Amino acid sequence: MANKNFKRTLVTSALPYANGPVHIGHLAGVYVPADIYVRYLRLKKQDVLFIGGSDEHGVPVTIRARKEGITVQDVVDRYHYLIKDSFEKFGISFDIYSRTTSDIHHKFASDFFRKLYEDGKFIEQTTEQFYDEETKEFLTDRNIRGECPRCHALGAYGDQCEKCGATLSPDELINPYNAVNGNPLTKKATSHWYLPLDKDQQWLEKWILEDHPEWRPNVYGQCKSWLDGGLKPRAVTRDLDWGIPVPVEGAEGKVLYVWFDAPIGYISNTKELCDANPEQYGTWQKWWQDEDTRMIHFIGKDNIVFHCIVFPAMLHAHGDYILPDNVPSNEFLNLEGDKISTSRNWAIWLNEYLVDMPGKQDVLRYVLTANAPETKDNDFTWKDYQARNNNELVAIFGNFINRAMKLTEKYFEGKVPTCGELTDYDKATLEEFKTVKADVESLLDNFKFRDAQKQAMELARIGNKYLAETEPWKVFKTDPERVGTILNLALQISANLAIAFEPFLPFSAAKLRTMLGMETFEWENLGRTDLLTAGHQLGES
Ligand code: MF3
Ligand code: ZN
Repeated sequence: MANKNFKRTLVTSALPYANGPVHIGHLAGVYVPADIYVRYLRLKKQDVLFIGGSDEHGVPVTIRARKEGITVQDVVDRYHYLIKDSFEKFGISFDIYSRTTSDIHHKFASDFFRKLYEDGKFIEQTTEQFYDEETKEFLTDRNIRGECPRCHALGAYGDQCEKCGATLSPDELINPYNAVNGNPLTKKATSHWYLPLDKDQQWLEKWILEDHPEWRPNVYGQCKSWLDGGLKPRAVTRDLDWGIPVPVEGAEGKVLYVWFDAPIGYISNTKELCDANPEQYGTWQKWWQDEDTRMIHFIGKDNIVFHCIVFPAMLHAHGDYILPDNVPSNEFLNLEGDKISTSRNWAIWLNEYLVDMPGKQDVLRYVLTANAPETKDNDFTWKDYQARNNNELVAIFGNFINRAMKLTEKYFEGKVPTCGELTDYDKATLEEFKTVKADVESLLDNFKFRDAQKQAMELARIGNKYLAETEPWKVFKTDPERVGTILNLALQISANLAIAFEPFLPFSAAKLRTMLGMETFEWENLGRTDLLTAGHQLGES
């Protein structure tokens, strides 16, 4: 069951591979929803920690290094800082954004492995793996390509076919070859440590299928199908020269599998943050080992099995850790009808967007949330971007605030006018507007960000309609007092917008807050009509 009596919330967002810049698919799928959620909790004055970082091990970064002819360290350095910078500029408000090549992480992940090893939680197995006789190396799934057994596309990867989306194992590929040099492959024996997930089948079934019916249908469904298929042991080490060395004698040339070390990065990054600021954050154990902590993982759908089955099994095997309370995973965002692809360079890269569309971070955040692929894959088009910007952000949100501000400047020298007697129409408007808080809240609590933003936009719609119908510009000559009341209400609605939109459009909300000169700024105040006192001087619009 969802943990209802929690004292604090730990929010993690998938650690992106530092093998390239991040794109709108990452933002829409993981980072914007996670950021909306933590901003909302912070506005509610809840104890919350938002953990991020770069995933710097694994094959993707080594592939990039070969492609660019530079060292792997250079690749992860370059992209870690680029990604970190993009996130910052988009207002993704991590409490820490660190990296899995840090010393803290290497030691932490290594210790984690050793504990499981010493407690006898692994099994060791020797298997035949694909091997390149010429380069004398074992190949990892991503470095093996061949024909897809399902759709027969050429060049499918050993773990997945990008064409039909099938999850594959390299053994299923037809005519496998080395992705780097095209060499045909042979098989050679090698031994590895495995997490015997088959032994976790029972408690995982109970924990997910019985205790968490509230998980999103796509997440629940994927877990169910993995569980129904019967879990099998999973290797947690690899033959590779980039990664965290397996801390066991005789394991030279082997490293921890990236999917073993990366999620541990959530913990080591928390430790890095807490150790550096103990008064502010407390101990890392408080966040990871106390039942009163509620943990939420934000991820994309290709990460579901790792966060719902493998990582929980690792935490469970260790014994001291809590398990996630929810794993809101999104589906994929396509771009102009086509799958986003790093290798085919079909994406809108955040670092490029920031250059091409300076100051427009909130617009992208808005459009990506309005189109969030929460229940099914969705499509991003520039046409829709333009329409949402013009018809919603400008015509409704911007227009309303602009009118409220400008009219107050014109008639009341920019001072909040006094609210006089309310008409029935005023009262009806206020009734309508007061329900918005509860609606947005319950949507956010249930990770329905897209509907939550839509509902928040209702506030602006209500305000717009109110000004259009009361027409203060026509009334001023005959009844300036009445205009005072109208503008007072319009400004109170604007102040509400500043609060309601802080999670969604943090830059615009901050601007609005300054313009209105708001002193308090908390979620609890949503729905109030006394946020701005009469006589209060507004800032520049
Ligand atoms: N790097 C992975 C990806 O981009 C995500 C890692 S999430 C973590 O798909 F849990 F391992 F950190
Ligand atoms: Zn295929």
